[in-house]
Amino acid sequence: MTIQTMALIGTGVMGMGIAQIAAQAGLEVRLFDVQAGAAERGLNQLKQTLEKLQLKGKITVQQLNETLARLKVIEHIEAVAGVDLVVEAIIENIEIKQKLFLQLENIVSEQTILATNTSSLSVTAIAAALNIPSRLAGFHFFNPVPLMKIVEVIAGLATEEVVVVDLLELSQRMGHLGVRTKDTPGFIVNHAGRAYGTEALKALGEGVASVSEIDRILREGAGFRMGPFELFDLTALDVSHPVMESIFNQYYQEDRYRPHALTRQMLAAKKVGRKVGEGFYRYVEGKKINEAAAQLVPDVTQFNAVWIYADLKHDDLILRQYLREKNITLDVAEQPAADSLIILATYGEDTTTAALRLGVDATRAVSIDLLTDFAKHRTLMPSIVTQKEYVDQAHALFAQDQHGVSVIEESMGFIAQRVLAMVINLACDIAQQQIASATDIDQAVRLGLGYPYGPISWGDQLGSQRILLILERILHNTGDQRYRPSPWLQRRARLNLSLLHSTTI
Ligand SMILES: NC(=O)c1ccc[n+]([C@@H]2O[C@H](COP(=O)([O-])OP(=O)(O)OC[C@H]3O[C@@H](n4cnc5c(N)ncnc54)[C@H](O)[C@@H]3O)[C@@H](O)[C@H]2O)c1
Repeated sequence: MTIQTMALIGTGVMGMGIAQIAAQAGLEVRLFDVQAGAAERGLNQLKQTLEKLQLKGKITVQQLNETLARLKVIEHIEAVAGVDLVVEAIIENIEIKQKLFLQLENIVSEQTILATNTSSLSVTAIAAALNIPSRLAGFHFFNPVPLMKIVEVIAGLATEEVVVVDLLELSQRMGHLGVRTKDTPGFIVNHAGRAYGTEALKALGEGVASVSEIDRILREGAGFRMGPFELFDLTALDVSHPVMESIFNQYYQEDRYRPHALTRQMLAAKKVGRKVGEGFYRYVEGKKINEAAAQLVPDVTQFNAVWIYADLKHDDLILRQYLREKNITLDVAEQPAADSLIILATYGEDTTTAALRLGVDATRAVSIDLLTDFAKHRTLMPSIVTQKEYVDQAHALFAQDQHGVSVIEESMGFIAQRVLAMVINLACDIAQQQIASATDIDQAVRLGLGYPYGPISWGDQLGSQRILLILERILHNTGDQRYRPSPWLQRRARLNLSLLHSTTI
C-alpha cells in the first residue's frame, strides 16, 4: 500500500514535526489532540515555521499553500476514519497509549497501519493490547523532526512485514532514512548512545581529568561535535539520567550500560543542565561561564634525548619523524639512557602498567595517545611517579606548532581511546544482537547522534585491531566486564575484515 493519508494524534513537539514532513511530502494529514485548542495552536505555529521557510526561499509560495491545505485539525477522534496510517505522538505512558490504540481500532479499517513514536516503551508490549497487533509498528523520529533525517521503523514480535515495508517506503518519500529495527530497549540510536556519556562519566569519576578537559579531548582530539558533559547539560539530566538507568535495567544490569552515581546526585540537587543554569557547567543567559582554560604550556627550552616505544610501527614512525622535525635528539639504544625522556605510545593501559611491562623507568615516562589524528589535540599521561621536569618537557615538546595538549592523570587507556572503543564496541554489539544491519546502525547513529562518522565505519577508519587491543587490555587490566569486546568486533578484527562485513550466508 502507498500511504496517502495520515492522522497524527498528539500535536506536541514531535507530532507537529512529523505532520510537517508528511504534509510537505504530499500526504493529507489530520491533526488531533486531547487538549482543547492544542492542535489549532500546533498548526498555527507550523504555519509560521513554513512562512519563515518561504521567506528564506527554502520553499515556494505554492509549496507553502499546498502544504498548509493538506493539514486539517479534527475536533473528534472519530474523524480519523478512512486514513491509511495513524501515528501517535502522545504522552510516554504505556496504558494511555494502549487505550488510545484500542479506541482507534474501533474507528479505522482493518487495513489501517497504526504507528507509535515511543522512544522507550516496547512496541511489542503496546501491540499486545490490540485486537490486531500485527498492524502496529514503532515509527521513531528524532527532535527536531524536519532536521533529523532519520527514523527507526520498529518491528514488534507480532508486526507484519508489509507494515514495516510500507513505513520504510513512506520514510523515504518524506526525505528521511528509515532504518529497520528490532524491538529492543533503546532501539538503535538511544541504545548506541549509552557508550559516550557513561564512559566519560566513568573517567571523570576516576579523576582522570576535569569536565572541561574531557570535553576538550573528545571534541578537539577525537572529533565529536560536543563534549559529553556539554551534551548532558544540553539534554538535561532529568531526561538522560532516567534513560541511562532504564536501558541498564532493561538489559538486566549489563555492565556496558552502567550509569554513574554522580548524575543521580546531580539530579537530586536539581543541577540538571543548561535549562536551570547549572549542570556540569554553570550558565548565564545560556552561555557557559566556568569552562576551565586550556592548560598552560610550560616554558621549556632545553630538551633531553627522547627514547620511544610504540605498540604500533606506524606510531613509532610518526613519532620519530615529529621529533626529527623538532631537532630533538633520539635515544635509539635498546634501553633508555639514564636521563632520557621516555615517550610511550601504547593502547589500553596506563603509564605505570606500560612502564612495568616494558621494564623502563616510570619516573621519566610519559604516554601519548596516538589513536586519533596525531596532528590534532594531543593527550599526554604521565605516571603517578613521573618527575615534573619530564612531564613539562613532554608537554612543551608536543605543544609545538600551536597544538592543544591535555595532560591527564593515569587511566587504563586514554580518554579518547576508552570512549571511542566503547562507542565502536557497543555499535558492533548492536549488530551482533541483530537489532539492525551494520550499515543501518552506522547511518542511524551518525544521523541520530550527530557523530562525525558512523561508529562502525569509524572503527574501520581507526583500525578494528587497535580497538580490539584497547578493549582487551583494559579488560585485562581492570577486570571490568564493561570492556569485553563484542564477538562481532573480535571476529572481524581477527579476520582483518571490515566491521561492516555481514555474514555471507
Ligand atoms: N521530545 C523528543 O525529543 C522525543 C523524541 C522521540 C520520541 N518522543 C516521543 O514522542 C511522544 C511525544 O513526545 P513530545 O515531546 O512531542 O510530547 P509533547 O508533550 O510535546 O506532546 C504531547 C501531546 O500529546 C497530547 N496528548 C497527551 N495525551 C493524549 C491523548 N491521550 N490523546 C491525544 N493527545 C494526547 C498532549 O496534549 C500534547 O499536546 C512521546 O511518546 C515521546 O516519548 C519524543
